[in-house]
Order: sequence, then C-alpha cells, then structure tokens
Amino acid sequence: MSNPFDLTAKSILVTGASSGIGEASAKFFISQGANVVLAARNIEKLDNLCQAFGAKAIAVQADVCIENDCKLIIDKAIEKFKGIDILINNAGISMRALFKDTEVSVLKQLMDVNFWGMVYCTKFALPYILSSKGSIVSISSIAGWRGLPGRTGYSASKFAMQGFLEALRIEMLHEGVNVMWICPSFVASNIRNTALNAQGQSQSETPLEESKLMSAEECAQRILHAIAKRKRTVVMTTQGKLTVWMNKFFPSFVDRKVYSHFANEPNSPLKK
Ligand SMILES: NC(=O)c1ccc[n+]([C@@H]2O[C@H](COP(=O)([O-])OP(=O)(O)OC[C@H]3O[C@@H](n4cnc5c(N)ncnc54)[C@H](OP(=O)(O)O)[C@@H]3O)[C@@H](O)[C@H]2O)c1
Repeated sequence: MSNPFDLTAKSILVTGASSGIGEASAKFFISQGANVVLAARNIEKLDNLCQAFGAKAIAVQADVCIENDCKLIIDKAIEKFKGIDILINNAGISMRALFKDTEVSVLKQLMDVNFWGMVYCTKFALPYILSSKGSIVSISSIAGWRGLPGRTGYSASKFAMQGFLEALRIEMLHEGVNVMWICPSFVASNIRNTALNAQGQSQSETPLEESKLMSAEECAQRILHAIAKRKRTVVMTTQGKLTVWMNKFFPSFVDRKVYSHFANEPNSPLKK
C-alpha cells in the first residue's frame, strides 16, 4: 500500500508503543520522516527501540490509567518536538472470561486503560492538535461495533471509546481537527497473551495462530493511509465490514454466528 502522505517534521505521539500495532506504527512513522513520542510502561523496551532512531524519537514511561502520566507524555512531546500533529491512542488490553465468573475489578481495569487512558491523553493533547489542525486517532475494534462473548469489559471499553470519539468528532467538525477510530480485525500481537482472565491475571496464551493473522506492520501502513485520507472511521477487513453491516440489519443472526465462532476457539469459556 503506497502512502503519499509526507510525515517529514510531523510530530506523532503513540501510546502502547512497546509492542504490536503501536510498536510497528511508531517504526513506520519514523521511517516516513516523522518525529515520534513512544509511550508505554515498559521503558526498557522503549529505550531499546529509540536507540536506533536518534533524535527522531523519545521514550516516555507512562501508565495511561494514571492521569498525570498522560500529562507527562504530552509535556515531553512539547518539550522535545514543540507541537503535536497526530495522537494515536493505541494502548490497550483485552480479557477472556464470562461475566458471571469475572471480578468487577477486571472490567474497571479494562475501562481504565482502554477508555480513560484515551480520554486523558486526548484531553492533554487537544490544545496542541487544535493549533496544528491535526488528527486524533484511536485504535478500537470490531468489539466496539458489536458485543463479543467473554469480552464484556473489552466491548464496553471500545463502545465507550467510539461514543466519546463520535461526539468529539462533531465538536471538532469546524475546527480543522480530524477525529477517527480504526477497527482492525485480528492482528498478530501480544494482546491475547496479556488478556485478563476472570481474576485479572494475564491468560498467557493465545487461542489463535498468530502467524496467520494480519501483521502489525501491515496494520500500521493501513493506519497511516487512513490518517492521510483523514477518514472518519476504518473497519479493516472484509470479514469485519461484513460483521458491522450484518449487525446493523440482522443482529439476532449475528448473535448466533458470533456465539458459534467464539465457542469454537480453543479453551473457549463458552464451552466450560
Ligand atoms: N491485535 C489485535 O488483534 C487487535 C484487534 C483489534 C484492536 N486491537 C487494539 O489495538 C491496540 C494495540 O494492541 P496490540 O494488539 O498491539 O496489543 P499488544 O501487542 O499487547 O500491545 C499493547 C500495548 O499497550 C500497552 N499498554 C497496555 N496497558 C498499558 C497501560 N496501562 N499504560 C500504557 N500502555 C499500556 C502495552 O505496553 P506496556 O505493557 O509496556 O505498558 C503495549 O505496548 C489495542 O487498543 C487493542 O485493543 C488489537
């Protein structure tokens, strides 16, 4: 996929840049000329990544659940690059357990990372993005269009994300700021290994063959393509588009299809 968008001297902030889609995006943006702020909790990983990029990248250790950490990411971006053109709210975690078995604290954690982390970063970055007439981009999921079993907290956090962004998008309509949410389907990453179980521990396994999924690098290219086109929203795959479309007109049918899809996953909580 060609990317005609000139990122030279653009300043981009990526949360969750230590792994998966965030890491691949940060690397790709830098390769296209951007200055990038990489944020996540694993500072060792971020420092290692940044070493290769010299003055074009900085690492900021931040837990997006903590409001002040999100302020720090923005402060560091301004200190180093003097502005922000694009914010990528990518940091995220998932879960895999039925609600009846799950501690409520697990759902709160999902909301803290996936929803509140995005809100804090967007709040602190907004004045700078208003001044650059840039973009606010959040990585959502098909789970933000239709509830998925075993992922009540994940779906809730992505629905909340999309509602928030749709409202913000309208507020920004005549301000020159593009607000967009992107829904990848399955992308090879660490997200399924770190997904929380009913007690809030990482499940440390993936039910999918990660090598058969879309690569994080391809996902990063598609994200940049969408930013260049200032799209409203992107659903990345045909299967994803079909799910969203069918869900609008035949939600009960999709309920049954989704059930059988997730029941057939190895170790599905639906079958326990
Ligand atoms: N992969 C998929 O199939 C898929 C599909 C649809 C949507 N998505 C979305 O894509 C985004 C990226 O996920 P991924 O698949 O690339 O997963 P990943 O490989 O597990 O990466 C997740 C990133 O989020 C960071 N993160 C997690 N908790 C954090 C916190 N409290 N504070 C700051 N950073 C935190 C992690 O860094 P640290 O652990 O170092 O903090 C890591 O860099 C997520 O929002 C996810 O919901 C993924």
